[in-house]
Amino acid sequence: MINSKVEGALNDQVRKEFYSFYLYLSMAAHFESMNLKGFAHWMKIQANEETKHAMKIYEHIIQRGGKIVLQQIDAPPSTWKSAKEMFAEAYQHEQKVTESINKIVELSKAEKDNASEIFLQWFVNEQVEEEASTYEIAQKLQMIGDDARALFMLDAELGKRSS
Ligand SMILES: [Fe+2]
Ligand SMILES: [Fe+2]
Repeated sequence: MINSKVEGALNDQVRKEFYSFYLYLSMAAHFESMNLKGFAHWMKIQANEETKHAMKIYEHIIQRGGKIVLQQIDAPPSTWKSAKEMFAEAYQHEQKVTESINKIVELSKAEKDNASEIFLQWFVNEQVEEEASTYEIAQKLQMIGDDARALFMLDAELGKRSS
């Protein structure tokens, strides 16, 4: 049986993963409006990954005899100044998600919910990748600055991301 405090924290994490989906889908839509189709493609795949994260937690709660209580999801921003600003925000967002996962790991330890602690190791590893990929693109955009040619080259590269 899942520990009730961990159950509450994981239900809240489901909300955060769906918010991540919403945020990245909104960024995808904004990239579409800028005609940066490669960036939009990358963000749509990223958004899709976030729903998988939410569903992974959902399955864990159910499997452990817990109850899913879906929460309200905030509206994400819908407009940004530049691709650079968007990826800086995505990187910041992933760092916040990592913090949130780490807190639930600590809670699982404190509550001696070993199954949840082990389950969350997958997310600890996943966040290393999530931070690295958003940081890499944020850094590239930093270097690109106002160089439109370099931006289009990166757009073409990101358009190749497979799901
Ligand atoms: Fe996630
Ligand atoms: Fe993420």
